[in-house]
Amino acid sequence: MTTVLTRYAALIATGELRPDPEQQAAARHLDALATALEAVPTRGSILWRLTRAKPVPPRGLYLWGGVGRGKSMLMDLFFDQLDIRRKRRVHFAEFMLEVHQRIAEERRKEAGDPILPVATALADEVRLLAFDEMMVTNSPDAMILSRLFTALLEAGVTVVATSNRAPDDLYRNGLNREHFLPFIALLKDRLDVVALNGPVDYRRDRLGRIDTWLVPNGAQATATLSGDFFRLTDFPVEDRAHVPTADIPVQGGRTLHVPKALKGVAVFSFRKLCGEAKGAADYLAIARRFHTVILVGIPKLGPENRNEAARFVALIDALYEHKVKLLAAADAEPAALYEKGDGAFEFERTVSRLEEMRSEEYLAQSHGG
Ligand SMILES: Nc1ncnc2c1ncn2[C@@H]1O[C@H](COP(=O)(O)OP(=O)(O)OP(=O)(O)O)[C@@H](O)[C@H]1O
Ligand SMILES: [Mg+2]
Repeated sequence: MTTVLTRYAALIATGELRPDPEQQAAARHLDALATALEAVPTRGSILWRLTRAKPVPPRGLYLWGGVGRGKSMLMDLFFDQLDIRRKRRVHFAEFMLEVHQRIAEERRKEAGDPILPVATALADEVRLLAFDEMMVTNSPDAMILSRLFTALLEAGVTVVATSNRAPDDLYRNGLNREHFLPFIALLKDRLDVVALNGPVDYRRDRLGRIDTWLVPNGAQATATLSGDFFRLTDFPVEDRAHVPTADIPVQGGRTLHVPKALKGVAVFSFRKLCGEAKGAADYLAIARRFHTVILVGIPKLGPENRNEAARFVALIDALYEHKVKLLAAADAEPAALYEKGDGAFEFERTVSRLEEMRSEEYLAQSHGG
């Protein structure tokens, strides 16, 4: 059986990862957790039937630290190695969207507290929930998290989470934060809190001092961005013809197709994203779900492109507000992108944001803001 630690050591041996003592410690922790989870008898097995008492779920883990420290990398490694059937890895924002939908369905039944049945159903599906990018930025989430997670943990689910914030800093300055504090107490009580906050931002390291806005569109820009994509996602060279796609949920029950999606990085063409009927809800879903967006084929825009320009403004607003990194290929520098046409004056803000999004300071910020 391959374990988390041996897999981590192998990646260091091949040079894919650089040795990092804090990561090593976190990997050891995850390794122990994987072993504990695998030791619990499978539901329905003979051993499970013989064990009368409900098995005690292993303690979960809350892994937090600055951007690019390797939290998602380690959690994915753990998740892939983990040899149990009922496991699920999900982006936290996506999970909360699903939870609110399920709660709304329960509420329609008018059968009392809707959170408990939702938690019970979730716990029936999995015994490990791995959340990437746990963050709490809105009051509807903040108000249900304590009850939801109490019920999940009581029902025997083990939780692993990555976050840019220590538990005490979640939902900082949020509305009615006093109702949220029990969730923080719960996390600290029921999960091991481990900091992964070393000096190196490996993502930044991988990108080097690159310019994130390439001019003009063309073979050279495409090759550069494609290289960035594969470097950011560690995608094996031999599989490059088969990059995974994704369909992500959009508020309102729709889904949005992402032509290339891997490890928090998405690739779109300007035509698909701003040239067709898309709107703020789509852009919000993208901004919440991906820490990096690669946008190719941005043309120079004129008065006849006012709809495209307006969509582009909405897209950049969403990306900027969620501190998403943007790598782009365009036919002009931001300032020369949309000089004449409806909303050209308002476009100035977008130009300013695009310039800021190229800065070291912006690129060092954590996704979600
Ligand atoms: N020890 C390492 N040596 C080299 N590259 C690494 C190392 N650890 C992580 N990386 C790479 O650095 C990049 C960023 O790692 P990862 O996405 O796991 O960061 P993160 O902590 O989840 O960041 P964020 O908080 O922004 O989500 C990935 O491409 C990852 O493979
Ligand atoms: Mg991450």
